[in-house]
Amino acid sequence: MSNIEQTLSIIKPDAVERNLTEDIKKIFIKSNLKITNSKKIHISKEEAAEFYKVHQARPFYNDLCTYLSSGPIFVMILEGEGAVALNRKLMGATNPKDAEPNTIRKLYGISIDKNSAHGSDSVENAKIEINFFFKD
Ligand code: CDP
Ligand code: MG
Repeated sequence: MSNIEQTLSIIKPDAVERNLTEDIKKIFIKSNLKITNSKKIHISKEEAAEFYKVHQARPFYNDLCTYLSSGPIFVMILEGEGAVALNRKLMGATNPKDAEPNTIRKLYGISIDKNSAHGSDSVENAKIEINFFFKD
């Protein structure tokens, strides 16, 4: 039985700035995730605040929104078998220090905030996040 899903991936400013976009895209493609849509954009702090509003009560919220809007990001729709969980696995733990070897955050993350990548955490949130960046 197949379980083709879509999920949203963001390459965060720290990684775009270090020209890691192509290396990170290769990690997804090698794992059979298709990039069905993508764009490089620079969002405002207000847009970052809307995107991350689930975290609005957290102490790191303001810094997180400042950071995501601090430079260009590369957003992608990833599609494939179990894409939501697979993307989370390929990214690794939120804190690069705790991430498994060869995950994006272990390879490229600088710190818990500059952790190079975002990935939707559920099919439901993936739909909301894809619509946020790619509504037509
Ligand atoms: O990104 P992920 O789903 O792994 O983690 P999250 O708990 O949804 O947090 C969203 C983002 O907030 C993380 O990716 C971190 O960049 C940032 N964060 C932070 O700066 N400090 C924390 N203590 C926790 C998260
Ligand atoms: Mg999250």
